[in-house]
Amino acid sequence: MDRKFFVGGNWKCTGTTEEVKKIVSTLNDAQVPSSDVVEVVVSPPYVFLPLVKSSLRPDFHVAAQNCWVKKGGAFTGEVSAEMLVNLGIPWVILGHSERRSLLNESNEFVGDKVAYALSQGLKVIACVGETLEQREAGSTMEVVAAQTKAIAARVSNWADVVLAYEPVWAIGTGKVASPAQAQEASPNFVHFELRKWLHSNTSPEVAATTRIIYGGSVNGANCKELAAKPDVDGFLVGGASLKPEFIDIIKSAE
Ligand code: G3H
Repeated sequence: MDRKFFVGGNWKCTGTTEEVKKIVSTLNDAQVPSSDVVEVVVSPPYVFLPLVKSSLRPDFHVAAQNCWVKKGGAFTGEVSAEMLVNLGIPWVILGHSERRSLLNESNEFVGDKVAYALSQGLKVIACVGETLEQREAGSTMEVVAAQTKAIAARVSNWADVVLAYEPVWAIGTGKVASPAQAQEASPNFVHFELRKWLHSNTSPEVAATTRIIYGGSVNGANCKELAAKPDVDGFLVGGASLKPEFIDIIKSAE
C-alpha cells in the first residue's frame, strides 16, 4: 500500500528570530519533489510558531514540539492542543525521547497526550525508541512495543498518526544504525517488527497505511540509503534539519 514519504525537521530548543528567518528562506527557495511525493513538516520552538507559520511556503507544514495532556487551564508554562489549533498549527510531536527521559514522561502519559491531541484535530508524530542499555540487554522490541501499546490502547484513528522510531543511542550521536550493519541493528528491522506489531494489535489496514519514520543522526550523506529501506517511510531529523542539507534529505523521497 502506498505510504507518502514524510520528512520532519525537529529544530528542538534552538534558534533566534534571525536564524529562523534564514532557515525559512532556505526552505522557501529550495527545489524539492512535489507534495504528492513527500510531506514536509518543520517543528520550531513554540515562540517561533506564528513566524514560521506565516512565512513558510504553503506546501510545507508546521508542527509544535509538544502540547499539554488535556484542555488548557491552570497549567503554568504549558501550551494546549486547543491553542495550537487556534493558531492553525496542524501537527504536534509527542513522546520525544528527550521529554520521556528529561521530563519523566511515561508511556501512559504520552498515550494520553496523543489521544487528546487527536481528539482536538491535531495530527501527531508519536516517538518511540530504546536506550543503548535496553538495546544491549536485547529488549529493543519489548520497549518499543510497550511504548506503542500505550498509544494504541488510547487511539482508534491512526490516520492522523505518524510513528517515529528514534533509537535514543542514535540521536545526535552520529551513530545512525547503518543499513550495512547486522539486520537486527538496522532501523528497517525495527520498522518491520513495529509494522508486524501493528498488524497483530491494531488492524492489517493500520499496519499497511501507518507511516513509520526513522530519526537519529539522519543527514544528507546517509538519507538515500536509509530511504531505500522498504519499511522506512521517512525521517524525523534533528541537527541536520537546521542546515541546507535538509533539502537533500527531502529529496531522498524520490
Ligand atoms: O527528533 C529528532 C531526533 O531527536 C533526531 O535528532 O537528527 O540530531 O540525531 P538528530
